[in-house]
Amino acid sequence: MSEPRQHEQWGSNLGFVLATIGSAVGLGNIWRFAYVTGENGGAVFLLVYLAFVLVIGLPLMIAELSLGRTTRRDPVQAFGSLAPGGAWAHVGWVGVVAAVAILSFYSVIAGWALKYFVGAAGGTLWEAAGGGYGAYFDGFIAASGEPIVWQGLMLLLAALVVGGGVNQGIERASSWLMPMLAAIVLGLAVVALTLPGSAEGVAFLFRPDWSALAKPGLYIAALGQAFFSLGVGMAVFIAYGSYLSPTTRLPVGAATVALGDTTFAIVAGLAIFPAVFALGGDPAAGPQLAFITIPQILLETPGGRIVGPVFFFLLSAAALTSMVSLLDAASAVARHRLGWSRRRAATLVALAIFALGTPSALSYGVLAGVSLGGAPILDAVDAAASNVALPLAGLIVALFVGWRVPRLQAVSGAGLGRGTAGRVWLWLLRVPVPLAIALILLHSLGWL
Ligand code: TRP
Repeated sequence: MSEPRQHEQWGSNLGFVLATIGSAVGLGNIWRFAYVTGENGGAVFLLVYLAFVLVIGLPLMIAELSLGRTTRRDPVQAFGSLAPGGAWAHVGWVGVVAAVAILSFYSVIAGWALKYFVGAAGGTLWEAAGGGYGAYFDGFIAASGEPIVWQGLMLLLAALVVGGGVNQGIERASSWLMPMLAAIVLGLAVVALTLPGSAEGVAFLFRPDWSALAKPGLYIAALGQAFFSLGVGMAVFIAYGSYLSPTTRLPVGAATVALGDTTFAIVAGLAIFPAVFALGGDPAAGPQLAFITIPQILLETPGGRIVGPVFFFLLSAAALTSMVSLLDAASAVARHRLGWSRRRAATLVALAIFALGTPSALSYGVLAGVSLGGAPILDAVDAAASNVALPLAGLIVALFVGWRVPRLQAVSGAGLGRGTAGRVWLWLLRVPVPLAIALILLHSLGWL
């Protein structure tokens, strides 16, 4: 095993929090949160998701960050360096596989956002209003080559950023782009809430129908969304933790990111669901939900045709910063193992991901007839990666930090000391987190 390379560090605590928010905030907060919440009936799903963020996502995020900070190795080596010679040396690969799988469909949706940006800026998006945005979306998605072109463009951009090592510039840019996106989403929520009939959407999001608790699928989806939206389970935070200084108050940073990410999603929900109900849409429309609803809200918004291009530009930018973190993690392994240069690793890994993602890009067009386990290809890849691979990687991290790493090293690595917080954190990692994930995983695989 090679020696750890000379390691960079974050310039400041704020820099770390902002970069981490850049990775966490993305399509997951707007596009995925809306579609999965809509498919799972709203309020009860939201509650279970929030509980999972707090009890499973946050402790795991702290564990990943502290693994990175303690070992200062890449996401695969981090395990092996603390537990040499055994199976632990290979478990980090689960996260790498998840990164590749997620990026393969994430780039497709990022391409949709880019297409909408160009449509909004050029005006074609507004002319389509007559036929309704369902028709606009269907027309775009059915044009067989188009989604692939936009997907390829987004991957090209991500490869240029990762290959050029200009991540820092991207981080600096996202520190003002993300607040702008948050402000626009908040504005859209205000507009959506004033539409006649919007109250039903608020009720959908906040008035629980407890009978939904009996549906096992809800827990699988809520766990997947918690992992996806935080970006846990894929080793991004092991890499980010390795740039942390030993004095950073890691739990505080992690909690800030989790809170910011979750608030963002709820505000996006407050923009989308009231509008869905006010405009007579179907909350369970699937992955296209946000792309049908948001243009409608923009049309109802005074100045919406000006805000529209800005919104879709920012959404594309948010997607890009998340793609950068995923592509960086996936190609880091190629750099270290194969000795490839930054540029070469980023380009070739992006190309492979492009090829892998083509079926997802076509899954609502020419491949609409093909289904995997009853779902369109894109939905199925998303579910497999988010609901199985990410929780599995999380389970591994929980067991490793909870049981394999010496207790004191684990707690002090996280910066938690001997107090109650450290004890609660470690206990969560040891018992409830692995137990909950294992139960849900076994169930989703049909073994329970
Ligand atoms: N969290 C991002 C989003 O919500 C996506 C993302 C970035 C991600 N890094 C990740 C998802 C790591 C899973 C794992 O859009």
